[in-house]
Amino acid sequence: MNDFIFHNPDKVYFGKDQLRRLPEELAAFGTKVLMVYGGGSIKRSGLYDEMRGLLEGAGMQMFELAGVEPNPRHTTANRGAALCKENGIDVVLAVGGGSAIDCAKGVAAAAKTEDGDVWPLVAGGVWVTDALPVVAVLTNAATGSEMDAWGVITNWETNEKIGLGGSALIPRAAFENPELSYTLPPYQTACGAFDIFNHVLDNYYLAGEATFDVVMEMQEAVMRAVVKWAPVALAEPENYEARANLMWASSLALNTILDAGTVHACACHAMEHELSAYYDITHGHGLAILTPRWLEYILNEQTAPAIYRLGTAVFGVEEGLAPEEGARKAIECVSGFAFNTLGLESTLSHFGIDDAHFEDMAKHACADGEIPGLRSLSVDDVVNIFKMCR
Ligand code: NZQ
Ligand code: ZN
Repeated sequence: MNDFIFHNPDKVYFGKDQLRRLPEELAAFGTKVLMVYGGGSIKRSGLYDEMRGLLEGAGMQMFELAGVEPNPRHTTANRGAALCKENGIDVVLAVGGGSAIDCAKGVAAAAKTEDGDVWPLVAGGVWVTDALPVVAVLTNAATGSEMDAWGVITNWETNEKIGLGGSALIPRAAFENPELSYTLPPYQTACGAFDIFNHVLDNYYLAGEATFDVVMEMQEAVMRAVVKWAPVALAEPENYEARANLMWASSLALNTILDAGTVHACACHAMEHELSAYYDITHGHGLAILTPRWLEYILNEQTAPAIYRLGTAVFGVEEGLAPEEGARKAIECVSGFAFNTLGLESTLSHFGIDDAHFEDMAKHACADGEIPGLRSLSVDDVVNIFKMCR
């Protein structure tokens, strides 16, 4: 296992009755708040009015960046940065899912630059150490953005979707009330659940030769919880236990506690970001299509034991099979989870995606060299995996 540093200063307020503490958390940074939110779900659910009441009741001045797109655009983050500069904003408050939080991070970083443009930071791979403070109110269990150092920003003009990272981007506080996810449509619940599952799987079994039981068994526990509770949340959207399990799993999956000592890898994520960048598809759905094909593609004598272990530990596949047979059963379980349990469509052709851009997408995905993972992937490998998803 590798040496590691674990440092996550995010203060999580989890549960039904925590939002009332938001004003005191924001007040630590000042009184001018930029609220960043999406296309209107928080207005329909009543959360917007509640936030307004809370902030105004505490004497805060609220500014707004509304209409953040799923797969947030750099141009939207730049609009937010301009608002920060014009109004002397003290803290950026994201209210929503990963897109609102990621955009808020882009805003917070760009607001500290001279020209207020986030894209040079994103494209230049700048590690952001200076940004306005970000606070998150989470409404969708999925990306882990509420507790991680990353925001994923899309440049629609260049078909690029890239992570912006930095210690200054970890939210200073995250408010996680599972009840706020009751209104999620089934499709977003399914996509979010698969996203969480894949965040863990992308880094599973990467501690090298030595077994790091503490981390691997935590990874397995989180994947098991997602597999157990996602169907419950789909059947009973207002089941608190299900929503709470998914929400905390979302935060644990990417706050780095589950990749301590491992080689951080994001094989499926690197490929999926290309799909979203070219075709604007929902992130979790892209992952669901890719993941079983990726496992099938990388299955060989070396990888079989790891894939088989996923089957036994997470899906209850029987012990004692030959590794390849066990691994095949595990892959069937992953497909079954994605396409039967969660009910997600299984092919790219469902979105009208053909192989027109596979080569370019694969080159982008491998821009920094082969993608690391259980088996590293070259440009040709990525093209082959996209082809398996058609
Ligand atoms: O925009 P609104 O109207 O709010 O509606 C959203 C949106 O249409 C809706 N929604 C969210 N919470 C809701 C709700 N509808 C009803 N009730 C609620 N409680 O759901 C839709 C999707 O929301 P979005 O925020 O886009 O979803 P998600 O949380 O999955 O975020 C996806 C983005 O995060 C990036 C993805 O690539 C994608 O751009 N990721 C960010 C990561 C990170 N920061 O570390 C890592 C991830 O791997 C991922 O790449
Ligand atoms: Zn993801």
